[in-house]
Amino acid sequence: MPRLSRYFLRASLLYMLLGFTVGSLILMQKAIAFAPSLWAWLPVHVESVFIGWMTQFALGIAFWILPRLGPTRPRGNEIWSWGTFLLLNAGIWIGWIPVKGAAFLGRLMESMAILLFFLGNWPRLYPSPWARNSPRNAKNTNASVHQDSSVN
Ligand code: HEM
Repeated sequence: MPRLSRYFLRASLLYMLLGFTVGSLILMQKAIAFAPSLWAWLPVHVESVFIGWMTQFALGIAFWILPRLGPTRPRGNEIWSWGTFLLLNAGIWIGWIPVKGAAFLGRLMESMAILLFFLGNWPRLYPSPWARNSPRNAKNTNASVHQDSSVN
């Protein structure tokens, strides 16, 4: 697994922990009203589970598993996806700052992060060159399928 995917997935699991913890606390508060100020943490709960956990988990797996472009730069220019990781996480935290405009700026950064991921990984959505030339894709006999079963 590439280093960036490990970062995405570790961060994702940390946000899952945070989101569930905050969600549980708010749920408890609903039941026995021990700390009404916990409601202020609802945006942290929602952002953690949707963006921090679920979105980031999907991005980490996608970066790992999308088709590779070849042996030298298998994931193309990785700068785009590193930018995604940094911008997405910075956007989450900036969005939580309780000042006017911070939520907007945070969301803007998250949107830019997704755009970067799109730009960096769109070129990977093609058949790998070696698979394109493989006998498996030549509409051939069963023999060629077995012969080439190690590809991909
Ligand atoms: C897949 C996981 C989850 C997602 C996507 C999610 C999403 C959300 C969203 C969008 C809201 C806001 C609803 C609103 O603004 O009206 C919310 C509220 C809430 N969530 Fe979650 N949540 C998740 C898991 C959990 C868990 C595990 C807990 C607690 C154990 C929890 C506890 C709460 C509570 C207490 C509220 C406030 C409900 C209310 O307004 O009365 N959530 N959640």
